[in-house]
Amino acid sequence: MSKLLLRQTLRLPTVLSAKQVTTGQQTAGQQLIRLFSKTAAVNRIENVLIIGSGLMGSGIAQSCATTERFNSITLQDVNNEQLAKAKDRITKSLNNLKEKKKVNINSIDEVVNRITLSTERKPVVDQNLLVIEAIPELLEPKQRIFKELCSQFKDNKSVIFVTNTSSLPCYEIGKYVDCKERFGGLHFFNPVPMMKLVEVIRVLDATNDHTFEALIQFVKDMDKVGVTCKDTPGFIVNRLLVPYMQEAVALLERGDATARDIDIAMKLGAGYPMGPFELMDYVGLDTNKFIVDAWAARGDPNLKIYKSKLIESMVAKGHLGKKTGKGFYDYTKK
Ligand SMILES: NC(=O)c1ccc[n+]([C@@H]2O[C@H](COP(=O)([O-])OP(=O)(O)OC[C@H]3O[C@@H](n4cnc5c(N)ncnc54)[C@H](O)[C@@H]3O)[C@@H](O)[C@H]2O)c1
Repeated sequence: MSKLLLRQTLRLPTVLSAKQVTTGQQTAGQQLIRLFSKTAAVNRIENVLIIGSGLMGSGIAQSCATTERFNSITLQDVNNEQLAKAKDRITKSLNNLKEKKKVNINSIDEVVNRITLSTERKPVVDQNLLVIEAIPELLEPKQRIFKELCSQFKDNKSVIFVTNTSSLPCYEIGKYVDCKERFGGLHFFNPVPMMKLVEVIRVLDATNDHTFEALIQFVKDMDKVGVTCKDTPGFIVNRLLVPYMQEAVALLERGDATARDIDIAMKLGAGYPMGPFELMDYVGLDTNKFIVDAWAARGDPNLKIYKSKLIESMVAKGHLGKKTGKGFYDYTKK
């Protein structure tokens, strides 16, 4: 019996399967239970809606699908082109992981088909639902999405909301959220299917115990390891990592060493798995720039950060790293 079937049999007597919902197979009793359960707080997360199907959103969807622990996974983006790219990225990643025996799956198509791709911000099932926002690292669009989500799920208390921001305080993103007790942060790492860590953020005077516990359980259900941190810019990892990457760029701009030598030095001398330039190319230079710009604009003396002209010009040219084929290194030749 698959983990999903087992879960549905043992633990989910009141939750309808995605198939039942799409085919409208609901008894009157099931409809009543469904209506009632929306007025109750979220239990263990059963359904996931991910907004933004880029590097992070597609990775989160893939990881959810691989665990077989969720009833439905919906991945949403602004257009079909982005969704097609996400599907392609997920398929390639699964192929790669299967080849390297890093994932135990029979059929790649089966895993991919567990993810519903949609241009509408509409989950397959909206009960015991976690909505994960993974759109670009810009404050206003993120704030707008949460405002819209609040009105969309106004009367549904079985929905909780998180942002996957890497650098912005969650409380600023959730400024217009009027169900703040059901709002928090989950910061995944890239590539999500490989990276075990998730930073779980409890927003001050907002996220309640129930939501926080549901998030901690969700992280476990994804076979990841959660750490918690106050809602401060960059949380733990990026608060340390971003200034380190900026210092590496400053070193390069001064002509002290080449990108390749700095990368080799940090891998062989400090034991890092990637050098700072490889890492920046991997993360995306646009994401790096969004973070640095937002931190610099805060004018916080505890959050000093070096703003690099080189990165500004690379972003302006569209050299964003691996995702565009060119960054500090050229990926078109490989
Ligand atoms: N790249 C990383 O290494 C990394 C790591 C951890 C966290 N993050 C954070 O995750 C978030 C996403 O980063 P990413 O690297 O996946 O970005 P990305 O640029 O790869 O993907 C963003 C996606 O969001 C979509 N999008 C934009 N506006 C949207 C909207 N209104 N509705 C739905 N979709 C929309 C875009 O079309 C795109 O597909 C950011 O907050 C980033 O800081 C990134």
